[in-house]
Amino acid sequence: MSKIKFLSGENIPLEMHKVRMVQKLNLLPVEERAKKMEEAGYNTFLLKNRDVFLDMLTDSGVNAMSENQYAAMMQADDSYAGSETFFRLEKVLQESFGKKYFLPAHQGRACEHIIARALVKPGSVALMNFHFTTTKALITLCGGSVEELICDEGLKVQSSAPFKGDMDIDKLNEAIGRIGKDNISFVRIEAGTNLVGGQPVSMRNIREVSKICRREGITLVFDASLLADNLYFIKTREEEFKNVEICDIVKELGALTDIFYFSGRKLGTARGGAILTSDDKLHATMREFIPLFEGFITYGGMSVREMEAMAVGIRETMDMDVISQTPIFIEALSNELISRGVPVVTPPGGLGCHIDAKRFCEHIPQEQYIAGSLNAAIFIASGVRGMERGTMSEQRNPDGSEHMSEMELVRLAIPKRVFTLSQIKYTADRIAWLFENRKLIGGLEFVEEPSVLRFFFGRLKAVGNWPELLVKQFRKDFGDSL
Ligand code: F0G
Repeated sequence: MSKIKFLSGENIPLEMHKVRMVQKLNLLPVEERAKKMEEAGYNTFLLKNRDVFLDMLTDSGVNAMSENQYAAMMQADDSYAGSETFFRLEKVLQESFGKKYFLPAHQGRACEHIIARALVKPGSVALMNFHFTTTKALITLCGGSVEELICDEGLKVQSSAPFKGDMDIDKLNEAIGRIGKDNISFVRIEAGTNLVGGQPVSMRNIREVSKICRREGITLVFDASLLADNLYFIKTREEEFKNVEICDIVKELGALTDIFYFSGRKLGTARGGAILTSDDKLHATMREFIPLFEGFITYGGMSVREMEAMAVGIRETMDMDVISQTPIFIEALSNELISRGVPVVTPPGGLGCHIDAKRFCEHIPQEQYIAGSLNAAIFIASGVRGMERGTMSEQRNPDGSEHMSEMELVRLAIPKRVFTLSQIKYTADRIAWLFENRKLIGGLEFVEEPSVLRFFFGRLKAVGNWPELLVKQFRKDFGDSL
């Protein structure tokens, strides 16, 4: 995607691809959207896709695949052991990231499970810029804990810092001194820091963290699931890389880190996961878990067709036309919302546009799940399905009390090359309407609350009859429009 200057002077994002396969969408009337939301326990994970208009829940496994990826799927070798597909993918990954070994797994969290099994001792601490839900849950499952060292700017919803995902180097040095390197399972950097709004990490920061880890003999793990967007930001926001090829940036990242893993549902636009390392000992330890939890070591729970698609997808990630589409659309959506007064995370990052629910719904108490409430209201107002990224996505403290999230965000993910600009404009318009009527939105309370990863399948109900009032106002303002 390129930002092309038009005669009018505007910079309009211009797609550098054409759409050759389509899926019909369905936009239910507002009354039905409210009914479907209630039936889904006010949890957008429990909606049926047939009832959703624009699915911005996630980009995971739903990015548009290229014609070359589909073509590659046709020549997959499905032998249980020693499949040619494995060797093709292995070669692409070795060449792209400069690592000696590749271990396949069925998705990103499976990689995290293997890494946690191999490295987390009970009582040990994993230091990271910020946690991701599955990462933290799996480290905790293995008896470890997580400490976050993100820079202060990272937790400011509005900021002009270009790399809000950076780790605070002073905090890292302090934590190593306090905890002691033998009690640190690993240091983890997450590219495109998911839970603080898809915010990138700079190469400068990764170099510094790597230097410290090498000095101390601590394993540096790099979660590259959101690397595509992060690469775009390294190239456009870090002067040094302006003229450096994407593939060379990726090679440097590979060289700076000891374990490199990713969710292929995000990076590589296929469905699977990969762990890469050049360390013989780490490889031998992790490899043992692959046949136990995933599948034989030449497929690791992935379909061979997806492995072929991943190999092509990784190569296509090295192209700015491919990786710029999501960040540029996110910027367009965020800027449109900002111009209409809606509070969003700034600067716009990768992965999705993140709405600041705390400021959007100042009247809702945090115990009533501010971001969860706004997320449900957005679906009712628009048929757009977003994801709650706030207190509902946290686990309760061991004593049962709520762990209040620092940020209450609603994420509108922008899958790669899936939506059009008019769909983005529609989304902004409905959310701007909701903002004008924000006082109508009320809170939620749990009626069924799972103890682990509750946001996936927990069920809630509205506090009061606010969904009904919202529908009434919608009808008043939009007449018989959907
Ligand atoms: N790490 C990061 C940074 C992620 O964003 C995800 C998934 C994972 C690991 C786990 O990968 O889903 O393949 O098991 N993020 C998805 C999302 C679920 O919607 O943001 P997975």
